[in-house]
Amino acid sequence: MCGIIGYVGRDSATSILISGLRRLEYRGYDSAGIAIQHNGSFDIRRSVGKLNNLEANLQNGSIEGTTGIGHTRWATHGRPSEQNAHPHRSGDVVLVHNGIIENFLTLRHRLESEGFRFESETDTEVIAHLLSSAIKRGRTLDVAVRQVAHDLQGSYAIAVMSLAEPGRIVVSRSGCPLVIGLNGTGAFLASDVTPLLSHTREVVFLEDGEVGILQESEIQVFDPEGRPKSFQPETIHWDAEAAEKGGYSDFMMKEIHEQPQVIMDTLRGRFDYETGEADLPDLAMTKEELLNAKRFWIVACGTSWHAGLVGKYLFEEMVRRPIQVDIGSEFRYREPMIQQGDVFIAISQSGETADTLAAAREAKRRGARVLAIVNAVGSTLSREADGIIYTRCGPEISVASTKAFTGQVIALYLLALHVGRVHEVLTPEEGRWWLDRFLTLPGHVEHILKQEKSIELIAHQYAQKRNFLYLGRGINYPIALEGALKLKEISYIHAEGYPAGEMKHGPIALIDSEMPVVVLSPKDRLYEKSVSNLMEVRARSAPVIAFVSEGDHALDKVADHVFHIPDVHPLLTPILFTVGLQLLAYHIANSRGLDVDRPRNLAKSVTVE
Ligand code: G6P
Repeated sequence: MCGIIGYVGRDSATSILISGLRRLEYRGYDSAGIAIQHNGSFDIRRSVGKLNNLEANLQNGSIEGTTGIGHTRWATHGRPSEQNAHPHRSGDVVLVHNGIIENFLTLRHRLESEGFRFESETDTEVIAHLLSSAIKRGRTLDVAVRQVAHDLQGSYAIAVMSLAEPGRIVVSRSGCPLVIGLNGTGAFLASDVTPLLSHTREVVFLEDGEVGILQESEIQVFDPEGRPKSFQPETIHWDAEAAEKGGYSDFMMKEIHEQPQVIMDTLRGRFDYETGEADLPDLAMTKEELLNAKRFWIVACGTSWHAGLVGKYLFEEMVRRPIQVDIGSEFRYREPMIQQGDVFIAISQSGETADTLAAAREAKRRGARVLAIVNAVGSTLSREADGIIYTRCGPEISVASTKAFTGQVIALYLLALHVGRVHEVLTPEEGRWWLDRFLTLPGHVEHILKQEKSIELIAHQYAQKRNFLYLGRGINYPIALEGALKLKEISYIHAEGYPAGEMKHGPIALIDSEMPVVVLSPKDRLYEKSVSNLMEVRARSAPVIAFVSEGDHALDKVADHVFHIPDVHPLLTPILFTVGLQLLAYHIANSRGLDVDRPRNLAKSVTVE
């Protein structure tokens, strides 16, 4: 996730910006840059890679000035490169941006037809040109920012400087955080409080649509209509480490709570409601190619493989084409019956997992079209794939994957909708119906997160058990696997995920009063069958933790604990159950006093076989 910093005051801006960017490094980035305004010009320096590269760049000639903005970029539109790094300049305006402008292609075409030349592949550059054009028409910078905001669809936090207004930085936001603060030496801005804490603890969080003007000894805030707004700074008590985690005790909890935003960001700008279609231009596949594909394959490892298994059920219902799901390390040593023109979908958070990469290369060698669902822009998988859907999760720091899984499942919903519409399995009405449902998911996840306390209480009761069994059926069988994986990864408790109907062929022998069983039982066509499985468990005295649909009270007296998820279409239940199971695993590990972010023996990215 990009980081933004800015300073206007009495001191040299460069060192303040660089130390601020250092504090933002934890957010992950692939390039960085700063712009300083001095004596009627901008000095802009940008470098790919780590901040050391930017600092080396700053050694080339001194860079003076006390007003500046800086940025660490996590690529979304366009690969990591110097041209794509921020700040971006157009005429007398320079800016940094965090977020995603959904309608940037439309705006870009319009601006190109008006004669603007683009130097980067970013969505950000359209904002620079729009602002510069408004300023040429005589607007002040704050008015220009407010006007341009009307043209922008999507999310943004921006900090802008204009040569016409020295000693001033204008900021605004919509959907992305931006915080500002003042001390005796100047005014500061950043994408989160972390870099501000060494300068001030009195900060103002800008609201959506508001515009702020920062000057050396003054901050002004305007509401979306341009009326001055009085504000009361908040005092931040966090230390810098807590601030990086957004006030959460660890990254895993922060990332669990980011999931509503991840869902929205991954859906953002990727559908056409009128036609009921998904809009995925980076797939780079024609309708004919999709229609001619005989078979679809999904290959991934770990949590990404579980997302892939969910994808199988989505494709079978929404696309009605044969699809096979494999584990990377298995696929690469088989003799898969892949044919020329098959579609091979590789799923990976990091885009660097050795087994997934090897499988994708093998599929390509055999003539398949390789599509990547990947989070890390510029990763090896993203470079080698023929087409891409980026999950827009931002960097995932906790080793146990949470938000990346959710982003992957959302990308699979979009892909299944896209292919289902191309194959005319889904009508435009059905496409719209699905889009409506996808858009409800952030709210449903929020709802589950609000009930965290009740999951925490359950977790405390079972934290000292040695074994767990997770049961699910249909599309929630992979979620039973994911719930069990999460628990073993971070709590070191042995846990198995099993298809509930298969329990009688083995695991039932293990069940006794010492084996808690987590049952996923939504109101779907397998509901009655899941309940029978639950009865079998109950009859053997195992404690039962049931995750069921809202309104279902049939299990209240049968299970020891019942947790309700919103009543949604069965194909949408996996994300909701997963969030509940992430919280369960987290709180069990936490009550065992373990470091959830860095579990023993595990690596975030497994780049060796
Ligand atoms: C490691 C991580 C898992 C992850 C898996 C696949 O095992 O610890 O959390 O699911 O790799 O990683 P990928 O980056 O390919 O999704």
